[in-house]
Amino acid sequence: MNMHISNALLLPVVFLCGAAAAFAQASAPVIRETTEPKGWVIETKSSSYRLLVTDKGEVFPAFYGNKAGASSTTRNDAWQQSIMEIPVRGAYPNKTPALEVIFSGRVRDLDLQFVSGNILEIENRPALVITQRDRFYPLQVVSYIRVLPEYDILEKWIELKNTGEKESILIENARSGSIVLPRNAYELTHLAGTWGNEFQVQRAALTPGVKTLEAADFKSFETPPWFLIRPRGQHDKFSGPGWFGTIQYSGNWRMDMNTRYGGGVQVVAGINFWDTHWNLEPGKTFVTPKFVIGYTGRGDEGAAQSLSRYIRKEVLPASHREKLRPVLYNSWYATKFNIRMDQQLALAKIAAEIGVEMFVMDDGWFKGRVNDRAGLGDWTVDKKKFPDGLAPLIRQVNELGMDFGIWIEPEMVNPDSDLYRRHPDWVFHFPNRARHESRNQLMLNLAREDVFQYLLKCYTSLLSENNIKFIKWDHNRALSEPGWPDAPAEMQREARIRHIDNLYRLIDTLRKRFPDVWFEDCSSGGGRPDIGMLARMDQVWVSDNTAPKDRLYIQHGFLSAWPANTMVAWTTDHMQNTSLEFTFDVMMSGVLGIGNDLSKWGDKEKALAKRKIELYKAIRPLVQQGTACRLISPFEDFRAAVEYVAEDKSEAVVFCYNLADDLAKNRLEGRGDLKLRLQGLDGGARYTIEFCGLAPDKQPRESCTGDFLENIGLRWIVSEAGKSQIIRLRKTE
Ligand code: DGJ
Repeated sequence: MNMHISNALLLPVVFLCGAAAAFAQASAPVIRETTEPKGWVIETKSSSYRLLVTDKGEVFPAFYGNKAGASSTTRNDAWQQSIMEIPVRGAYPNKTPALEVIFSGRVRDLDLQFVSGNILEIENRPALVITQRDRFYPLQVVSYIRVLPEYDILEKWIELKNTGEKESILIENARSGSIVLPRNAYELTHLAGTWGNEFQVQRAALTPGVKTLEAADFKSFETPPWFLIRPRGQHDKFSGPGWFGTIQYSGNWRMDMNTRYGGGVQVVAGINFWDTHWNLEPGKTFVTPKFVIGYTGRGDEGAAQSLSRYIRKEVLPASHREKLRPVLYNSWYATKFNIRMDQQLALAKIAAEIGVEMFVMDDGWFKGRVNDRAGLGDWTVDKKKFPDGLAPLIRQVNELGMDFGIWIEPEMVNPDSDLYRRHPDWVFHFPNRARHESRNQLMLNLAREDVFQYLLKCYTSLLSENNIKFIKWDHNRALSEPGWPDAPAEMQREARIRHIDNLYRLIDTLRKRFPDVWFEDCSSGGGRPDIGMLARMDQVWVSDNTAPKDRLYIQHGFLSAWPANTMVAWTTDHMQNTSLEFTFDVMMSGVLGIGNDLSKWGDKEKALAKRKIELYKAIRPLVQQGTACRLISPFEDFRAAVEYVAEDKSEAVVFCYNLADDLAKNRLEGRGDLKLRLQGLDGGARYTIEFCGLAPDKQPRESCTGDFLENIGLRWIVSEAGKSQIIRLRKTE
């Protein structure tokens, strides 16, 4: 257990730099070595990242920003402020350090010296690999910058190796990397929220000082790990520079934005080492997760498109990456814990009738689970509810033409469970201290190998004994006291990191054993949406709040970084005084699911649902695999619009929603001809326009050119509160 490898970064580092030309985009290679000054230039589609090595053997970031604005001799703020490429605790405390270590139990000062820099290929991408080492102590620091030019994205991470033979080195902080933005005044956009109100967009000036976004309890409700930094006052959604980033980590993470008076921002991100350390034994290596950063010249939407496309095409599990997500039914809101075979089957019959492809039975199916006070941890079927096991239900669901999915919450246990009665020591706790419960549950210490093996065995049995094709993986409480009394003293503060390593190992092993199963990420809604999970999960349950108007805000925020093919959205009976039609239109802009109590539906509702699901299946490739563009933000207007354009621009679909109450409606009418201007079309081409659901003689327009649609725009036709319109566009020539 002494080589920590985060995010399965077992890297097939292959060959050396002469081959850099292999990555050449037209004439210029993505990474170039320079001699005057000594260093490297990394170029993506729109950005340039420059590094310098001084005569004293220090490595500095010299520039990060627009390709056109970079000069080869730039020595920017980082240089002037002595913020190195890998800022360390050592010498002056004039920066936020990425590395803080202790040598020989007392030397807390790290002093790095350049050893070598190579251009390698890592998983088919060019990467700059810089090796440095401490000038005296046996610590080697290898920093990686892997380049994905077409997304304008760089992945940074660091590998620490104790090259000594006798002493351990105590790592008190090891972030994934740092970037320094050109001198300017900046503004931060980030997301914040709480249960039922996730992904709310926040904007604030970065004034001098440090702004920190972090998770300290394994939950990212308050701040999902994402940022966008733009020059202050530049608010055009579709143009202008922006730097954005996220962290590929599902435990505690942290991002610091350190702003200097007079401009210049340093961003440092990685694992949150609060109350955490790592004991690096001789000969061992510690690898940080990836800090994913990008630059765009195309405003908020450019940033969202680059990152979400990167997640969709490079991060999501490769086996399901290109597959269309099935339309699912989830029984949670209809039946809660009160599950019965006949009632699930009755729901399944209607679900199949309206076109659902995956029937998911949520919480409540396992031993003793009659409410949220019991059962978690005992992952066998409740014989009172299913005397013959799950097989008869699954068989009939399959006969109806649907796949079957199920809910689990592996990391948790109820004190009222056989597991806890047998192993009270398996939960995180400190001796002589309270074991704080949340939703009547405690958190299993997955850093323990016995806990890992137990969970692996439970789910291997569940998935091999039943024809289950979908897992909803929930996580319903925050971490409180992270004690691990049985572990040796030096391992006590490693528990959180080891827990996440084993969580990843558990999911990875299950995916390997059951390669055709879909996995959905859930944490009381959207509490764990990071790309550490999304490298292992195909989609995210974004919020327990299914009210369609609230959802528009939540989904707008989510699309700041994440792709629509991960954004699971169900219709439910919670319609916030709107219609089932409006509810469908909202949920159809992501991965559509149905969560209503179908037993209450009459023919009218079933017919509407059938029609909407049919339409959804027709536009699904666009929604799930097209380029999303949030044309109108509900945070800025009393309406919202999101567009999805095919990669080849041959087709698009636009979802329009009106949120206006009566007052705002008057305002809308007062303003007369509000417009809907589209983005990303082929300017010279002509597109036919279909306002879905309107009779042919009521269609406001037949066709327009891409230029017209982008610059003049369509008249906004949704004039009542809680109404919506889906518009389809198809290229004619
Ligand atoms: C929280 C999830 O967000 C819900 O969708 C549901 O699965 C419940 N947990 C079940 O306990």
